[in-house]
Amino acid sequence: MPSVVGVVAVILFILYVVLPLIFRYSPAFQRQLVFLPYTMNYSQPELHGLSGTRNFYMSTEPKISVGVWHILPGNLTDKSFKTIEESLACGNPVVLYLHGNSGSRATGHRVELYKLLKSLNYHVISFDYRYSSNVVMSENGAVTDATRLYQYIRKFSGKSKVIVWGHSLGTAVGTKMVAQLCAVNQPPDGLILESPFNNISDVFRNHPLTILYRPLSVVDRFFTERLQSNNVAFDSDVHIAGVECPTLILHARDDPIVPVFLTKKLYEAGLKSRPAEWSPLQIVEFHEDLNCGHEYICRVPQLPSIIE
Ligand SMILES: *[C@@H]1O[C@H](CO)[C@@H](O)[C@H](O)[C@H]1NC(C)=O
Ligand SMILES: *[C@@H]1O[C@H](CO)[C@@H](O)[C@H](O)[C@H]1NC(C)=O
Ligand SMILES: *[C@@H]1O[C@H](CO)[C@@H](O)[C@H](O)[C@H]1NC(C)=O
Repeated sequence: MPSVVGVVAVILFILYVVLPLIFRYSPAFQRQLVFLPYTMNYSQPELHGLSGTRNFYMSTEPKISVGVWHILPGNLTDKSFKTIEESLACGNPVVLYLHGNSGSRATGHRVELYKLLKSLNYHVISFDYRYSSNVVMSENGAVTDATRLYQYIRKFSGKSKVIVWGHSLGTAVGTKMVAQLCAVNQPPDGLILESPFNNISDVFRNHPLTILYRPLSVVDRFFTERLQSNNVAFDSDVHIAGVECPTLILHARDDPIVPVFLTKKLYEAGLKSRPAEWSPLQIVEFHEDLNCGHEYICRVPQLPSIIE
């Protein structure tokens, strides 16, 4: 029988020696932990409660393909179109949704948001980053996937408005992508950042789990120092300087994962670095009483009027 002391010693050894060392010295492990990828076969969106939804796969780079859902607006059905792409030009706004880490495009709170946007007569295009191709994830890989989807939408959307909506880690993918799109004069009509952060190093420093690894110099040495060179820095506070389109930040004060002060740092970085004559950068905070946490801003009754 192993003694209790023995078991505790093993757990502490893993927690305070093995895990920090692997995190620091294995870029692959680090990237997997940042993305926490998970995906399955989502070829039947109706099993997830979504009507009028097409599942398809898109190649975003040679040998890499991503699974995509196109959720039609509530007032359109696929019966009226020869190809689903035609529906994108009907004038209904199109939302390209960039989800956060862990789970997939089928995760419950995400489906809840799609249903809301559908009821407002928006298209939603949501996809899983390149996990399904079994490649090691990186920031640039995720941005490339998102950019291909954006170009696909733009190819068919005509005069319809295209909005990029990122949540959590997806806000960093979106901010970087939109800055790049603005630089080549192909901006979306708007960017919505739900529960965003300034940069991922600061998220690590303030995450409930890294409390175990104080002092901060230890957290930095083992958890944040290599994020940059491993291509998972996600420094939106830098990229927001290039986001020229109208941008709306949404954040809940009771968010336990990304504390609201990290969102404010992003907002302030944007105010400081973006020229005053650019389209507005706005922030809306939701009160603790609304119980939104990190994932449920979609339940706020005023959300439709805020985004419209
Ligand atoms: C996903 O499931 C569908 C329906 O069960 C099946 O037809 C399809 O081949 C599966 N796709 C993959 C990639 O496994
Ligand atoms: C559907 O709703 C959109 C947005 O409200 C509107 O622009 C469009 O004309 C509507 N289309 C139909 C077929 O009702
Ligand atoms: C992240 O944000 C903090 C606080 O604004 C800043 O001090 C730091 O330089 C940023 N970047 C990194 C990589 O930590």
